[in-house]
Amino acid sequence: MNTVIEVRDLVKVYGKRSTAFEALKHIDLDIYEGESVAIVGKSGSGKSTLMHLLALLDRPTSGSIKIDGVDSTKLRNRKLNKLRNATFGFVFQQFFMNPQDTVIENVMLPLKIAKIRRKARKNMAAKALGTVGLSERIKFKANNLSGGQKQRVCIARAIVNHPKILFADEPTGNLDSVTGEMITKLLFDLNKKKGVTLVIVTHDEDLAKLCDRQIRIVDGEISTGAKPKKSRARKSTTTRVTHLTANVDEDSELGELAKATAAAAKRAVKSSRTGKTSKSDEPDEKTSDSTTKTAKTTRSSARKKTTKKEEA
Ligand SMILES: Nc1ncnc2c1ncn2[C@@H]1O[C@H](COP(=O)(O)OP(=O)(O)OP(=O)(O)O)[C@@H](O)[C@H]1O
Ligand SMILES: [Mg+2]
Repeated sequence: MNTVIEVRDLVKVYGKRSTAFEALKHIDLDIYEGESVAIVGKSGSGKSTLMHLLALLDRPTSGSIKIDGVDSTKLRNRKLNKLRNATFGFVFQQFFMNPQDTVIENVMLPLKIAKIRRKARKNMAAKALGTVGLSERIKFKANNLSGGQKQRVCIARAIVNHPKILFADEPTGNLDSVTGEMITKLLFDLNKKKGVTLVIVTHDEDLAKLCDRQIRIVDGEISTGAKPKKSRARKSTTTRVTHLTANVDEDSELGELAKATAAAAKRAVKSSRTGKTSKSDEPDEKTSDSTTKTAKTTRSSARKKTTKKEEA
């Protein structure tokens, strides 16, 4: 069984001096290739904090996080972005999309940034949209979709680069039960059929039970599930996922998108903490979402480059 994520003595402290708060307290955790794990626990226990650290969207205060044996805490930003973008896909409760763009443009975005040629981009995005059952909607404006359809677009975008590990923070949180079930099925199909490792933060007990393992967090500590029981440990899946992101230039705009995603993730943690949704948390807010803004900038510069290439 290959360990894809190995966490040792992980600590996250928010704030300084009198306002310092230890959100994660000396966590040890192993996640194996092809596993599905649910991170569960009460509100404020540290689930999102842990997921954002595992997904390299935030830096720990101390401790180590090895991804495929590489200690991410020793990497500089550029290498960290590269590792994150080559290995992970993200699905958030809020749908971070460019609302005025079409469905397929939204899904192609990571590929454009990764400088994959237009024809290949289109094929890959169409395939990912086929996987989530949205082939009929590829030319729709993202804004004109239902909540469940938007979440499916986000899943298509998360899988279009063939990530090895998919992180999902409350992926069914904003959906009705029928649509939630559809999204759940999609996520587990990716896990079972494509060997994608799933790490899901959820309050949904039914969703958590479907996972191979539940990691329960209580006040910043893991109370159960840090390691799988030996008898239940799954063998490493034989399906290896192809990494098209080998083409990603570490100086490319993909790093910028990742930074914006990190900002979005941080805002999501903040709003879940305060219970308020700030204007900038609104995914459909054209001017306030930094993912959208950065995505638009990167898209237009990527478009200029590609058009030039294709015209040549
Ligand atoms: N940026 C921050 N600054 C200070 N404290 C923070 C910050 N982000 C989170 N916290 C605190 O860290 C703790 C863990 O927060 P986290 O968002 O990880 O909880 P959670 O388990 O995901 O909760 P929920 O189920 O409500 O989403 C909380 O007590 C929260 O108030
Ligand atoms: Mg949370």
